[in-house]
Formats: sequence, C-alpha cells, structure tokens
Amino acid sequence: MLETRDLTIRFGGHVAVDGVSCAFAPGTLTAVVGPNGAGKTTWFNLISGQLRASAGQVLLDGRDLTSLGPAVRARLGLGRAFQLTNLFPGLSTLENVRLAVAARHRIGHVFWQTAARRRDITDAAMAYLERVNLASRAEAAVAGLSHGDQRKLEVALMLALEPRVFMFDEPTAGMSVDEVPVILELIAGIKRQADKVILLVEHKMDVVRSLADRIVVLHQGRLVADGAPAEVIASPIVQEAYLGIPAAV
Ligand SMILES: Nc1ncnc2c1ncn2[C@@H]1O[C@H](COP(=O)(O)OP(=O)(O)OP(=O)(O)O)[C@@H](O)[C@H]1O
Ligand SMILES: [Mg+2]
Repeated sequence: MLETRDLTIRFGGHVAVDGVSCAFAPGTLTAVVGPNGAGKTTWFNLISGQLRASAGQVLLDGRDLTSLGPAVRARLGLGRAFQLTNLFPGLSTLENVRLAVAARHRIGHVFWQTAARRRDITDAAMAYLERVNLASRAEAAVAGLSHGDQRKLEVALMLALEPRVFMFDEPTAGMSVDEVPVILELIAGIKRQADKVILLVEHKMDVVRSLADRIVVLHQGRLVADGAPAEVIASPIVQEAYLGIPAAV
C-alpha cells in the first residue's frame, strides 16, 4: 500500500535519509527504531510531504506522490500527527478537533461558522476525544493543556482525518505512566481494523515488542535492518547501533 523507493534527503552536505526503500502492507504495524538523529522523523516528513525529497519516491497504491504537497497527501490518506504549531492555541480542544473533522469533510474555513454550529461535526469530534481519553478537557484551551494531553490531542487530530496510513512519532513521549496504556490500546485497536498501515517511532522496546509485526532500523539515515521483532532485536547491528551494546567480537 505504501512504499518509499530510494528515498533521500540532503541538508547541505548531510544526508539525513539515505536511499531508504521499504514497502508496507495493510494491517501491519511497523516499528521504526534507531538512535537520536538517525532520520526517523525526517523519513516521516518525507512520506507526509512536510519535506521534499532530494531523490527517490513515495508511492501509495503504486501512485507516485513525490511531487505532491502535504495537504494533498493528507487527503489521499497519509496521516501524520499534527504538530502543535498547526493548532489554534487559543481555541478549545474540541474546537480544534472539530476543525479537523470539518477539513476532512471539506467544509473549509470559509464555512467556519457553519462547522461550529453543526451538531454532527461536534459529535464526531467528541467521539475522537473520547477515544484518546480527552473528553473531559474538551472545553479547555489548547494552550493550557498538559504536555501529555497535548500529545493525546495530536493523536485525536490524526484520527479525525481517518487516514489509511498512520504515522506515530513517539506518541507517548511526555505522558504519565497511567496515560500511556490508553494510547497503546488505541494503536492496537487501529491495527485490529486490519486495513491500515501503521508506522510507529518508539524508543521503548517493551512497547515495540508488544505491538510491532516488524521492525525497521534506521542508522545515520540508512535502513540497516528490517525483519521480525525478535530477529531484529537480537541482531548485532541493533544491539550495537541502537541499544549501545558493543557487538561481541
Ligand atoms: N530541516 C533540517 N535541516 C537540517 N538538518 C536537519 C533538518 N531536519 C533534520 N535534520 C538532521 O537530520 C538528521 C535526522 O534527524 P531526525 O530528526 O530525523 O532524527 P530522528 O531519528 O527523528 O531522531 P530522534 O530520535 O532524536 O527524534 C539529524 O542529523 C538532524 O539534525
Ligand atoms: Mg524524531
């Protein structure tokens, strides 16, 4: 369903993502791991169109999206968690989700007032907030949310787009321990729908082990391992490059 072919981006002389080729089937969850600065977030940004590739391609159902911008790609089904900078900090949590729902139904900002009054849009937005356990904060201004609640809101906004490809970039970072299971169960639920591609950047190996069908490892922009979780975790390259354990000589 989703594929990157020799995907590459250079920042000056630095190759942040270096010829990454990888294909993803519906109903699978792939964990993307690698040390800080490995290129994980940059790879996501190349897939979503936030960054333009220096070389290579992004394909969805065989269609080349490489020259398309992020808004078009989102409409075609590539879901990338919103950055908080894309939100309206003065508006409530619910209003932000409502705008995402309206955007998906192509009720543009021109019709803002209409969107704000439509009961079905409000109900849909509340349902997304309930799924991430944030309904109690519906009326709170986004600017006043705790860091963990902001991360939940980012997930709710991605859900509201009803994407076919979910890209989660450390979705539980900054969450308190009691909040983490809500998000993990939600991701597991998306996986059970069996028709989505899920990519998950996650540093916690226990989370990776429990959710992933497959692990790909990035290191210095290159894809250095790709396979079943047990295999990849046991491989010398991961033990050394990612977990920081020197390979046995
Ligand atoms: N816009 C940019 N301009 C210049 N260099 C960049 C830019 N974006 C990313 N980089 C560089 O690309 C490399 C990969 O960064 P990236 O954020 O993708 O790593 P990451 O694997 O997501 O790391 P982390 O685990 O810390 O989130 C880093 O060396 C980073 O400094
Ligand atoms: Mg990152």
